[in-house]
Amino acid sequence: MESIPRSGDPNVALAWNRLLEEACHTESISLRQLFQDSKRFDTFSLNLDTDFLVDFSKNHVSQETLDLLLKLSEVSGLARGMAQLAAGKYLNGTENIMVRHTLLRRALLRSKGEPTPWEASIRKGYQALQHISEKILSGVWCGFSGKPITTVVNIGIGGSHLGAMMLSCALKPYASHLETHYISNVDGSSAFEVLKSLDAETTIFIIVSKTFKTQETLTNAERIKAWFFSRGGRKEHMPHHFFAITDSENAAVDFGIPIQNIFPVGSGVGGRFSISSAASFAVMLSVGVDHFESFLNGAREMDEHFFTADFHRNIPVILALIGIWYQNFRGMDAQLILPYDVHLRHFPTYLQQLVMESNGKRADQEGRHISYATGPLIWGGVGTDVQHSFFQLLHQGVQKLHCDFLCATVPSHPFLEHHQELVSHVLSQSKAMMLGGGVVSKTLDAHREFPGNKPSNTILYRSASPETLGKLVSMYEHKTFVQGFIWNINSFDQWGVALGKKTFEEVLPHIREETLGAFDASTEGLLRFYHRR
Ligand code: F6P
Repeated sequence: MESIPRSGDPNVALAWNRLLEEACHTESISLRQLFQDSKRFDTFSLNLDTDFLVDFSKNHVSQETLDLLLKLSEVSGLARGMAQLAAGKYLNGTENIMVRHTLLRRALLRSKGEPTPWEASIRKGYQALQHISEKILSGVWCGFSGKPITTVVNIGIGGSHLGAMMLSCALKPYASHLETHYISNVDGSSAFEVLKSLDAETTIFIIVSKTFKTQETLTNAERIKAWFFSRGGRKEHMPHHFFAITDSENAAVDFGIPIQNIFPVGSGVGGRFSISSAASFAVMLSVGVDHFESFLNGAREMDEHFFTADFHRNIPVILALIGIWYQNFRGMDAQLILPYDVHLRHFPTYLQQLVMESNGKRADQEGRHISYATGPLIWGGVGTDVQHSFFQLLHQGVQKLHCDFLCATVPSHPFLEHHQELVSHVLSQSKAMMLGGGVVSKTLDAHREFPGNKPSNTILYRSASPETLGKLVSMYEHKTFVQGFIWNINSFDQWGVALGKKTFEEVLPHIREETLGAFDASTEGLLRFYHRR
C-alpha cells in the first residue's frame, strides 16, 4: 500500500497528483451536467439515521473524484489517526498532550467497566455538576439572602464561551426557568449591560477558563467579584455564588473560588473542543441536566458512526474530503455555514473558532513550512436574513465558495406555514445556486445572468433537538480533525493567538501610563491620538 511518510507533505502522494489531474479534467463539467444522472441524490447522500440526512450531491464530485479523495485519506493513514483519537491517544505534538475530547464524551456516558483515573475524575466532576444543577434548578440551592437562584452568568472567552453560548441559544426551545447571560468581551459594555439587570442575591457566576490566565476573562471576573461585593455579597457567600471550570485549580483558589466549586475541563480537552465538558455547566443550567445528556448522546452517536463507518459512508470523512477537494484542487478557500434557524445564529461563529483556530496553520506536524492550502475561511449567518444581505454575492459574485445549508424538517414553534416557507427557501436557494437561471431578457444582459454551478451540502434533520445539536457538533469536530490530519498539521494547538497576547502586554502599559513606546509610526500616532482624548 502506498503511504505518506509522516515526515512528508500530503501533496507528495500519488493520489494527490491524480486529484490535480482530475481537477483539470473536470473543471468544465457543471453541476447541471452532473445531475443528468437521475440517481445522483441516492449515490451522493448519506443518512446517519432516519432523522439525519446529508445531501452532498450538489458538489463538483463524481464517483471517480470521490474514489481518489478516499484513496488520499487511506494513504494518509487516517484510519490509524482515527483509532488513536477514539482511544484518547492522538498526540498534540507541540504541546505534548493526548487529545481527549471524544474520550471525554465516552467517559461521561459510560456506565460499565473500570474507569481510568482520568475518566474517574472527569465523571466525578460531571456528576457533581449534575447534582448542583439539579439543586439550582429545583430552587434548593439559594443565594446569600436565602432566595433561590434565578440567573446564571458565564464568564469566559473563545472555547470557554462560544460552544456553551451557541448551545444555550440553539436549545432555547428547551430552556429552563433560569435566565442565562454570557460575558466574554473585555469591552466593558459586555459586563456593564449584563450587570445592569442582575440581582446579586439570586445570581451565580461561572468563570470558565481552562488556563485561568486569559486576560479578558480575568478582567471580567474581577469586575464581577467587585460588583458582587458592592451589592451585599461577602467572601463567605462565594460558595453559593461562584464556580470555576478550569484545569488551573490553584489560580481559581487564589481568585477566591472555594475548592469544592472548582471543576476540571479535562487535560487533553482543548477549549474549542470542550463543549461536551464541564465548560458547558451554564448549558446544563439553561436547558436542564437531561437535555444536556441528550446532547452528549447525540454527539456520541455521531462519534460511533465516525469511528466505525466505512470511509465511503462516513459523514465527517466525506464532508472533510469534499472540503479538501475544493480547498486544494478547485481553489476555493471559503466555506459558508447557513443554518435556517434563528436559534442557531451563533453556530457559524462557534464553527469559526473550531475550524479556523484548529486548521489555520502554516507548518506541518514536523514544524516545516507547508506548500499547500490548509483551513478554509468560515463565515455565514442565519437564513433567510442572509438572503437579503450577502446572497447577491453568492449568486452573481466572482468568488469561489461552497455552502452548508442546515435546516430542521419539524419546527420548534407552532407556526407551520412559516416553516414551510423556510424549508422552501433552503431548497430553492441551493437549487438556484446549483442550476443558475440563464438570462431573463431576450437581449444578452449579463446583469440578469445567474451562472449557477455553485456547490453546497444540505443537512436536514428532524428537529433542532439536543441530540441533533450533539450530532452536528461531533460531525464538524471530526470533519475538522480529518482535514487537519490529511494536511499533516496539528489541529490542536493555537500558537497564532500568542503573538496578539504578547503584543498586548507591550502596549497596555503605554495606554495606562499615557506614554509613548518605541513602536512603529502608526502605533505611536494612534497612542498620541488616544492620549489627547
Ligand atoms: O484564543 C486562544 C484561546 O487559548 C482559545 O484556544 C481558548 O478557547 C481561549 O483562548 C480561552 O482560553 P481559556 O479557557 O484558557 O481562558
